Amino acid sequence: MFQLIYLSWASDTFDPFGPRGMQSILNTAQNFNSSKNITGMLIFRNQLFLQLLEGEQKDVMELFEKIKSDPRHKDIQVILSQEGDKKVFPNWSMAYSDLTGRELDIVNEIMPWDQVVEDFKNGKEVPNNKILSIFLRFKYDQAA
Ligand SMILES: Cc1cc2nc3c(=O)[nH]c(=O)nc-3n(C[C@H](O)[C@H](O)[C@H](O)COP(=O)(O)O)c2cc1C
Repeated sequence: MFQLIYLSWASDTFDPFGPRGMQSILNTAQNFNSSKNITGMLIFRNQLFLQLLEGEQKDVMELFEKIKSDPRHKDIQVILSQEGDKKVFPNWSMAYSDLTGRELDIVNEIMPWDQVVEDFKNGKEVPNNKILSIFLRFKYDQAA
């Protein structure tokens, strides 16, 4: 099982509420990913996307090639790609959070989202262990 995490900026023209917005991305993702046993989570806040993709390496990489060429985002940077023991989200073809309310608190406890945004903006390395912890925290929060 292979895991890939990347960060990217939404394109200037991206309208999260428009016809090619978040709902369209999630519909596509949930259909396609479940057909390939790909799972994961997508976070979108302050124009920043953070996505975890997990599945067979070949499938994840093929999907990532498509995602990379999607004009809805830019400056895509892989922050983690590794063979993992166990999926973080075995049952979610693509979970989604816009980090409102309690979800933002969860993330901020691990690494303030504003810090992620600042680091990425300034070309600083975003600590990948913290980012993975963010997703793990969502997993456990869900289980609780
Ligand atoms: C931030 C972001 C995340 C995406 N995540 C997925 C995903 O997990 N699965 C998926 O099938 N498409 C995802 N997409 C959509 C793909 O980029 C692409 O539109 C989709 O694979 C259809 O491509 P096609 O029309 O070339 O078949 C994502 C797009 C963006 C902008």
